[in-house]
Amino acid sequence: MTREPLQLTEPRLPRHVAVVMDGNGRWAKQRHKARALGHRAGVGAARRIVRACHRRGVEVLTLFAFSQENWQRPPLEVRLLMELFVRTLQREIESLHKNRVRIRFIGDHHDFPPSLREMMRKAEERTGANDGLLLLIAAGYGGQWDIAQAAQRLCAEGLPITPANLETRLVTAGLPHPDLLIRTGGERRVSNFLLWQLAYSELYFSDVLWPDFDEAEFDKALGWYAGRERRFGRVPESA
Ligand code: IPE
Ligand code: IPE
Ligand code: MG
Repeated sequence: MTREPLQLTEPRLPRHVAVVMDGNGRWAKQRHKARALGHRAGVGAARRIVRACHRRGVEVLTLFAFSQENWQRPPLEVRLLMELFVRTLQREIESLHKNRVRIRFIGDHHDFPPSLREMMRKAEERTGANDGLLLLIAAGYGGQWDIAQAAQRLCAEGLPITPANLETRLVTAGLPHPDLLIRTGGERRVSNFLLWQLAYSELYFSDVLWPDFDEAEFDKALGWYAGRERRFGRVPESA
């Protein structure tokens, strides 16, 4: 592998921000409300962060909305989350489109209600030609599933399973890996999010519960990111 000098002038704004939006349930519990209320409040936080990324010129924002493991939650909570998903999509799509946001859904959508899948397809189609922020919604997503489906596709095509080939079959193929991962809600774990793509991401953990995460909190994360020295296994030129 060729050794390139480390770019000390690398941009201080992340190109790709990925977010584990965690803490909705605890936010509701603190208020003696049902978990569904926390999820509903979480939509407001998602809207704020999409707007902040749009304003600051972030290229890609990936939001973890529903993990494969989240299917194991009580059926009522899963149903409410699906309904919230539908309603949010209906309500937000035109304003996202007006702001030139391009929406894509990543994950295994087989178990999603057909009507929701159709809405997701239409939202992707409607916003597909937009040149603004690329908003990836990870729903029914699992990092292990992503790597496995990439490997399966390579196998089916008779191609060798190399890191470079796998890269081209992941659901994020062609996109920069997340520069910054934000997880709210106080847990310091990845919970099967973008396992492959997080190889060299900067990891930012916030104790703020997702519904309370706002632009000021987001700016704190960006400020923290701007102070990181990313080495990618190399040594800085000055060393
Ligand atoms: C994250 O909030 C939203 C989803 C996983 C859908 P949680 O529902 O996990 O909230 P906590 O972690 O129980 O507080
Ligand atoms: C991760 O949160 C998934 C999403 C935010 C969609 P979880 O609440 O499901 O993660 P764990 O169970 O605490 O690891
Ligand atoms: Mg949680």
